[in-house]
Amino acid sequence: MVEFFINDVAVQAEDNQTVMQAARAHGFYIPYFCWHPQLSVPGNCRICAVEVTNEGQAAGSGWLDIACNMPISKGMRVLTDSERVRERRKETLQFITLNHPVDCGICDKAGECTLQDYHYEYNGSPSISRDAKVHATKHYKLSERIVLDNERCIMCTRCVRFTREISKTNSLGVQNRGDHSLIRPVEDGAFEADHYSDNVIDICPVGALLSTQFLHKARVWYLQPTPSVCPGCERGCTVNIWHRKNEWKLKALDAKQNARIDRVTPLENPAVNGPWICNKGRDLAKVFERARAEEALLKGRPTELQTAIDTARALISAARRPVALVSNWGSNEELAAFDKALGLRLSCYVKTDCQPEPGEPIEDDLLIRPDKNPNSAAARALFPPLPADARSAFPSDCDLVLVWGEGFSFAQLPPAAKIVYLNSWLQPENGHADVFLPISVQTERSGHYTNFRGGVSAFAACFGKKPGVIDAQALFAALAAPVAAVSP
Ligand code: SF4
Ligand code: SF4
Ligand code: FES
Repeated sequence: MVEFFINDVAVQAEDNQTVMQAARAHGFYIPYFCWHPQLSVPGNCRICAVEVTNEGQAAGSGWLDIACNMPISKGMRVLTDSERVRERRKETLQFITLNHPVDCGICDKAGECTLQDYHYEYNGSPSISRDAKVHATKHYKLSERIVLDNERCIMCTRCVRFTREISKTNSLGVQNRGDHSLIRPVEDGAFEADHYSDNVIDICPVGALLSTQFLHKARVWYLQPTPSVCPGCERGCTVNIWHRKNEWKLKALDAKQNARIDRVTPLENPAVNGPWICNKGRDLAKVFERARAEEALLKGRPTELQTAIDTARALISAARRPVALVSNWGSNEELAAFDKALGLRLSCYVKTDCQPEPGEPIEDDLLIRPDKNPNSAAARALFPPLPADARSAFPSDCDLVLVWGEGFSFAQLPPAAKIVYLNSWLQPENGHADVFLPISVQTERSGHYTNFRGGVSAFAACFGKKPGVIDAQALFAALAAPVAAVSP
């Protein structure tokens, strides 16, 4: 360890740390654009300037250098917010905004833009330049998912380094020089095929890289993040699901807009996914906003939820050789509730709710895992997996199968068995079951998933439960309870 001084406070730091790293570790804030804790250090934006003084030397008489690329040394004295530092940052911001448009009013990054924040903190003055701004392309299509506003780009090169160092597609680069520099994708389509490309939207410090899904959809201050877990594979990346704040729900809007997933961003988690997620994790609206099943059915005919529960309970109670196919999308709490209520009554197997989609990446060295379900680890800790030949799981006299979740073809069920089906989506199978029970989805309840390494992550409810559906956890207790005690 090395002792040095930040703003006259003695701090201990690792030998190989930079001033930026040591300052952050001890709670001293230094602004930055191009620096990112997970990327290499180009030192090109210069906003992180700090003043270095000798012992006894007054503030203002030291020298200025960038904190992100300056190694600490014993006894070093660093000032992070002296007059001289603030003056340098003001000059740097004048330079960075020389050609930057003042279009914060229509920029999706407004409210989250560090250039905006630093301008207020360190500059606050109109441009001193009398020259016309250099114009560049405003809506350059980088891929189907991302548009680039070159006028807003401050050439920090974070996006370029991300594709070189993290996703390793080497799919972005810098074209031309000076104030004509442009970020451009390589010509072989590698950026389009980069399964992690949307991370560059998050790490772009300004509004230059924009999600086509989110473009002009909402101001970020109307939205709130709810911590959740991506169910797209057994990695279980932690995410924030952004949706409209209660106080900003508008009566004039289509009700669906008040209860939709506006965007999904990573929720940094060093133990699971670091600060990244793959593009599949960004597209959770496609999973959770599919048409929902909101009515209980008896052989395809709508019925009261309570009637369906009573019927299912009677069928399970009367069955002699019942089998259950357990969902690997059930939360830890739901799986435990199922085990407690019905685990001894039925022969249970864990089925695989979701298989890889055509063209979907199966596995890579960064995050993506081959099992495209969130909770196989917890389900298989309780019950054995369904054999590859699913029919072999059903005894010849099997007279009831409880199917929980999607992804199982009813053609494989024993023809004479009664079917109790629990699912959340509108699917043809719903009407073929003897009893169909609509259950809530992850965004309507809280719980935990256990990932492939045994790490447990929590998710919270974003929206209220739809009328007519029941939480699986409550349903399992109801299926095992006396009829008089059942209350959905
Ligand atoms: S597009 Fe954004 S991340 Fe990329 S160089 Fe420009 S400012 Fe940096
Ligand atoms: S790696 Fe898996 S869990 Fe993580 S965001 Fe992608 S699909 Fe979701
Ligand atoms: S953050 Fe240090 S030079 Fe950009």
